[in-house]
Amino acid sequence: MATNRTFTMIKPDAVANGHTGAILDDIIKGGFKIVALKYTSLSDAKAGEFYAVHAERPFYKDLVSFMSSGPIVAAILEKENAIEDFRTLIGATDPAKADVGTIRNKYAKSIDANAVHGSDSDENAQIEGNFFFSAFERF
Ligand code: CMP
Repeated sequence: MATNRTFTMIKPDAVANGHTGAILDDIIKGGFKIVALKYTSLSDAKAGEFYAVHAERPFYKDLVSFMSSGPIVAAILEKENAIEDFRTLIGATDPAKADVGTIRNKYAKSIDANAVHGSDSDENAQIEGNFFFSAFERF
């Protein structure tokens, strides 16, 4: 059953480059309601845990080290058809392939430093949201 919720992180590159406000604005203008929001950072161990599903991929080590390199913004977002609509809003994983006007097209530089994460399924959205937020932090 669709939960109409997705999970996102604004990644260290976008936070460091001052794009947090603009990205949150794009998300809100895209019709998403912010259900939970947190400015935080991931340790190497926590980033490794979050991306454990990619542990066997060649980019895993670089991904973990990048994601623990600076502060991030984590959020749970709500909208009808949230998973698919958010992936459309952010564009392709590789910003070079992201449609014009998408968040990754506007704010990302490379496939590693790709500005934002978006959940790929309802199940993962729940797992990822639970990774960062308790029940008391959701509205
Ligand atoms: P994200 O949506 O956060 O999920 C996994 C991340 O791995 C992805 O965004 C990219 O930033 C990163 N990554 C690096 N290389 C690749 C690759 N070849 N394919 C997919 N993801 C990659």
